[in-house]
Amino acid sequence: MPVNDKRKIAVVGVGAVGSATAYAVMMSGLVSELVLVDINRERAEGEAMDLAHGASFIKPIRIYAGEYEDCRDADIVVFCAGVNQKPGETRLDLVQRNYAVLKDVLVRLMPLEENGVFLMVTNPVDILTYAALRLTNLPPNRVIGSGTVLDSSRFRYLLSQYCQVEPRNIHAYVVGEHGDTEVPLWSLANIAGMPVQEFCCWRGVPCLNPDEITRRVREAAYEVIARKGATCYAIGLAVKRICESILRDENSILTVSGLVDGEYGITGVCLSLPSIVNRTGRARVLAVPLAPQEEEALHHSARTLKSITSQLDLP
Ligand SMILES: NC(=O)c1ccc[n+]([C@@H]2O[C@H](COP(=O)([O-])OP(=O)(O)OC[C@H]3O[C@@H](n4cnc5c(N)ncnc54)[C@H](O)[C@@H]3O)[C@@H](O)[C@H]2O)c1
Repeated sequence: MPVNDKRKIAVVGVGAVGSATAYAVMMSGLVSELVLVDINRERAEGEAMDLAHGASFIKPIRIYAGEYEDCRDADIVVFCAGVNQKPGETRLDLVQRNYAVLKDVLVRLMPLEENGVFLMVTNPVDILTYAALRLTNLPPNRVIGSGTVLDSSRFRYLLSQYCQVEPRNIHAYVVGEHGDTEVPLWSLANIAGMPVQEFCCWRGVPCLNPDEITRRVREAAYEVIARKGATCYAIGLAVKRICESILRDENSILTVSGLVDGEYGITGVCLSLPSIVNRTGRARVLAVPLAPQEEEALHHSARTLKSITSQLDLP
């Protein structure tokens, strides 16, 4: 990469998720500079050292532990700071603690350079994306959440296992909240243009049970947390994928979270819908046709998020 073609990502909060994200970004060769910030300075330094010691195996990159000032000229600031779910906790249970962390960080972090994208990962990701939008006053396309990008990948993975076809050949989205009210869009799920049930018949596998797969997608994080205490690798890859689409101006369709502005009659909330992601961030939202029960479930998701958001002292 030419020296003057600087591409920079900042990761704020380098615990399990932030460090896995940093590793995925480093491995991708997407950026020339990666800065890590954490309230625990030693943690950030340790992660930066550990990653940088692999320099001879990857494309040239400057990795360092920094301060908030070092994040301001980043193309993307990835926010992973805060507490994670403990066994038995929902993502929504984290809201007040992580909203306090967000406010604390934004005071030090802002302003971002023109065109910088703020990418929220901390949970509850939709509510904190909305809070970040209101607290920063940045344009809505530049404040996005990782949303259900991970959930859509889990959905595709489970379908791939069942249908015996590789996940990249499956088109399937999860929309709404990244959480318990999320909505897998069965009406649109297809493999090579065939509805998944039809594909199952053709493939000679028994018809699948949508309720069972929906449950496993929704409960996926709980299953991992019950066993190892946190999820990190798949979300790290999901965040890398979003960053890739932004930095390479790909116009990829990803279910990132962002402000909903009238789609399906919903306003004033951030949640995930299939969206075109490019150098401007979340460039356009696709109001794809939904089955009536999916649309109702999406409204339920929006109402749930709004009721929690209304409890925050937002400006
Ligand atoms: N969006 C998703 O799909 C997704 C997936 C997995 C986890 N998460 C969320 O990501 C968040 C991080 O999870 P984790 O497992 O990495 O937690 P973790 O406890 O391992 O790491 C959190 C890090 O944030 C740092 N931190 C705390 N307060 C800070 C502050 N004020 N300023 C800077 N840094 C601060 C901590 O020092 C720690 O290093 C959680 O909210 C978790 O629920 C989101």
